[in-house]
Amino acid sequence: MSAVPVITVDGPSGAGKGTVAKLLAEQLKFKILDSGALYRLTGLLVNRAGNGFDNEIEAAELASSMQVEFTVDGVILNGEDVSLAIRTESAGNDASKVAAMPAVRAALLDWQKAFAKMPGLIADGRDMGTTVFPQAPLKIFLTASAEERAQRRHKQLNEKGISSSIAALAAEIAERDERDRTRATSPLVPADDAIVIDSTSLSIDEVVQQILTLWSDRS
Ligand code: DC
Repeated sequence: MSAVPVITVDGPSGAGKGTVAKLLAEQLKFKILDSGALYRLTGLLVNRAGNGFDNEIEAAELASSMQVEFTVDGVILNGEDVSLAIRTESAGNDASKVAAMPAVRAALLDWQKAFAKMPGLIADGRDMGTTVFPQAPLKIFLTASAEERAQRRHKQLNEKGISSSIAALAAEIAERDERDRTRATSPLVPADDAIVIDSTSLSIDEVVQQILTLWSDRS
């Protein structure tokens, strides 16, 4: 078992994992692994390669050869700042497509494991508790109703000045959830020993507080 303390935060799109992970990392002075960003970067490269999303070998090669640097507020891919490009809805959808390819998941596995460094790691994703850090001492599965997740996404986009329709967002979220839940390799499911937190009617601070309490009970 790894000596590095790891808290995994898995769950569907828009459940608030990213914000919760960031606040937990700040409180505990842990590092963060935003594993979704790795799939988004791979999706961006596959999209730009222009050969469609059916070529698993090409996608896995792009995943294993990409040079990535996470900065304080973004990410540099092969020397280019792609922080905004990977955050669009279509980049999320492309990420979900490459994430269904076992060879891509295999290409990213050891890299993700290497993020576990002292003093600790908050690992945000879909399979952090089931596949990447199965020994993690605390595993959270964060959910929220589909309507609430679409509303939150709508609000986030509004704040960035991007207009969107709640109905279209809800449909996209449902499509992505379905693909993530039903894929053969590392589907989106809670680990057997995960604690499920439904954040539909909780504030972010309440969720963070619950997780910090669970963590201090364990350590
Ligand atoms: O968390 P996110 O929205 O940035 O993730 C984008 C997509 O990447 C998501 O639809 C599924 C995939 N993903 C995954 O399959 N496994 C992970 N550990 C993280 C993300």
